Amino acid sequence: MKRCGSALLVMLLLASSPIVATAAPSAVSTIESHKHLGVASCSNSVCHGASQPFRDSNVQQNEFAIWQEFDPHAKAWQSLQSDASKSIARNLGIGDPTAAKVCLDCHADSIAADKRGDRFQVSDGVGCESCHGGSELWLNAHADRSVSHDENVKNGLYPTDQPVARARLCLSCHMGTSDRMITHRIMGAGHPRLSFELDTFTWLHPHYKIGEAWTKRKGEWNGVRDWAVGQGVAAENLLDLVVDEKAGWKGIFPELVLFDCHACHRLMSGRKWGPRQGTGLGPGVVRLNDANLVMFRHVLAPVDKAAAARLLEQTRALHKATTQSRDATFAAARRLRATIEELLPTVAAFNYGPDSLDAILASIEADAKRGEYRDYASAEQVAMAAQSVVVAFENDGKVDGDKATMLRSRLDALYATIKDENSWSVQNFNNALAALRAAAP
Ligand code: HEC
Ligand code: HEC
Ligand code: HEC
Ligand code: HEC
Repeated sequence: MKRCGSALLVMLLLASSPIVATAAPSAVSTIESHKHLGVASCSNSVCHGASQPFRDSNVQQNEFAIWQEFDPHAKAWQSLQSDASKSIARNLGIGDPTAAKVCLDCHADSIAADKRGDRFQVSDGVGCESCHGGSELWLNAHADRSVSHDENVKNGLYPTDQPVARARLCLSCHMGTSDRMITHRIMGAGHPRLSFELDTFTWLHPHYKIGEAWTKRKGEWNGVRDWAVGQGVAAENLLDLVVDEKAGWKGIFPELVLFDCHACHRLMSGRKWGPRQGTGLGPGVVRLNDANLVMFRHVLAPVDKAAAARLLEQTRALHKATTQSRDATFAAARRLRATIEELLPTVAAFNYGPDSLDAILASIEADAKRGEYRDYASAEQVAMAAQSVVVAFENDGKVDGDKATMLRSRLDALYATIKDENSWSVQNFNNALAALRAAAP
C-alpha cells in the first residue's frame, strides 16, 4: 500500500535530480526536494493553529499551538542564541552560531535560499516542513479528503507515519548523517552528547494522537515495532558513517564521534573494564559505539534467532577489524550493513505480540548477566527499550492496577540508576533490570 507511494517518490526524485541517481534519496534530500512555505503557512486558526482540538476533523488542528508551546523543536533556533551556543561557537571559531550552517542544519530548517517561500523564517527553528517535507505541491491538496495520503506523499509530504522513514528523518539530526554531520570537535567544544530511541522520542512531546481516526487512514501503530526499526536504522547509519570517507577518518584518527564516548572519557582510577561478548575485545581498546547493534540483536530474539547469532558474529568481526586496519574495518562494516539491510523489512513487518515482548526482555536480561552493559550508551538504550516494552504491556492490557504501578516504579528505578553518566554503577543497573523483569507479566 504505502510502499507504492514511496517507490513512486523514489522514481520521481531519480528522474528530477541527477545527484541522487546512484542511491535511494536520503531523508534530508526528500525533505528538501520541494519549496518550504514556512510555519506561518500552517498556523492559521482554521488550519493547524486552533487553540482547542477540532471535533469533526481527522487531525487535532491545534498542532501549531502544541508545537509552539511544548515542543523543543520550536525553540531549536533560539537555543543557538544561548550562552552555551555562543561558547560552543567561540571554541570552534565559527562566529555567530545563529548564522553558522553547521548549527543551522540541525537547529533550524536550513533549506537553500532559493527554496524558501515568502513566509519562511529560519528563526522558526525545526518547523513543520523540517519533518513533513516541503509543502509547495501538497499544501492546498492535503486538506482535501478526496486526495489520498499516498497522493500527498508523492507530492513531497514526508511519510512520518512509516517507522523506517521516520527513523531516517529523526536520526539525520539526532545522530547525524553524512548530510548533517556532528563531529567530536563539536562535542569537544561543549555540545551535549546525542542519544536517541525512536519510540521514546516520538512520544516525548507529541502534537498528534494515534486513535481510530489515525489507524483507519494510516494503519496499525506499534511502539515496539518503532523501537525495533529504530535500532536497525540507527545501526545502519553508524555503519554508513564508518565507511564514509568524508564523514570520518581525518588525519591519523577516525571520527571519534562514532566511538563509545565513555571508552575514553572515564577516570583513570576507574578500573571498570571487563570482557564483553558483543565486542570480543581485550582491555584498553577504543570501541565503536555499538549500542544500537547490541539492541538490534535483542530485536531479533523473537524474529529470527539464527539471524541474531549471525549479527553477533559479524559485530564481533567488525570490532576485531577496527584493531587491524581501515580496509578490514570497511569490509566488515559493509558486510554487517548488508545483513541489517536484509533483515530490516522482516523486522518492520513483524507482529510484536505479548510473547515477543517476553523474548525481548529475556534476551536483554541474559546479556546483563554476561556484563554486556558496562558501556553507558548500551545501558541507556536498554532503559529506553524497557520503557517501550512496559508501554506495550500496558497497551496490550497485560498489566493493570497494582501490577502496572509496580512495573512503572521499577522502570523509574532503572532510569534512576543511569541518571548520571559519570557516576553510575553497572551492578546497580543490572539489579534494577532484574527487578523490572521479575515484575513483568
Ligand atoms: C547533527 C545535528 C546537530 C548539529 C550539527 C548541531 N546540533 Fe545542537 N543539538 C542537536 C540535538 C538533536 C540536540 C538535542 C539533544 C537532546 O536533547 O537529545 C542539540 C542540543 C543542543 C544544545 C542544548 C540545547 C538545550 O536546550 O539544552 C545546544 C546549546 C546546541 N545543541 C548548540 C549547537 C550549536 C552551537 C551547534 C553548531 C556548532 C550545534 N548545536 C550543532 C543536534 C545538532
Ligand atoms: C520533529 C518532527 C516534526 C515536526 C517539527 C512537526 N511534526 Fe507533525 N508529525 C510528526 C510525526 C512523527 C507525526 C506522527 C506520525 C504521522 O501521523 O505521520 C506527526 C503528525 C502530525 C499530524 C497528524 C497527522 C495525521 O495523519 O493524523 C499533523 C496534522 C501534523 N503533524 C502537523 C504538524 C504541524 C502543523 C507542524 C508545525 C507546527 C508539525 N506537524 C511539526 C513529526 C513532526
Ligand atoms: C532538523 C533537525 C531535527 C529533526 C529532523 C528532528 N529533530 Fe528532534 N531535535 C532537534 C534539535 C536541534 C533538538 C534540540 C532543541 C533544543 O533544545 O534546542 C531536538 C529535540 C528533540 C526532543 C527533545 C529531547 C529532550 O531532551 O527533551 C525530542 C523528543 C525530539 N527532538 C524528537 C524527535 C523525533 C521523534 C524526530 C523525528 C520524527 C525528530 N526529533 C526530528 C533537531 C531535529
Ligand atoms: C578516542 C577517544 C575519545 C572518544 C571515543 C571520545 N572522546 Fe571526547 N575527547 C577525547 C580527547 C583526547 C579530548 C581532548 C581533551 C583535551 O583537549 O585535553 C576530548 C575532548 C572532549 C570534550 C571536551 C572536554 C574538555 O575538557 O573540554 C568533550 C565534551 C568530549 N570530548 C565529549 C565526547 C563525546 C560526547 C564523545 C562520544 C560521542 C567523545 N567525546 C568520544 C577523546 C575521546
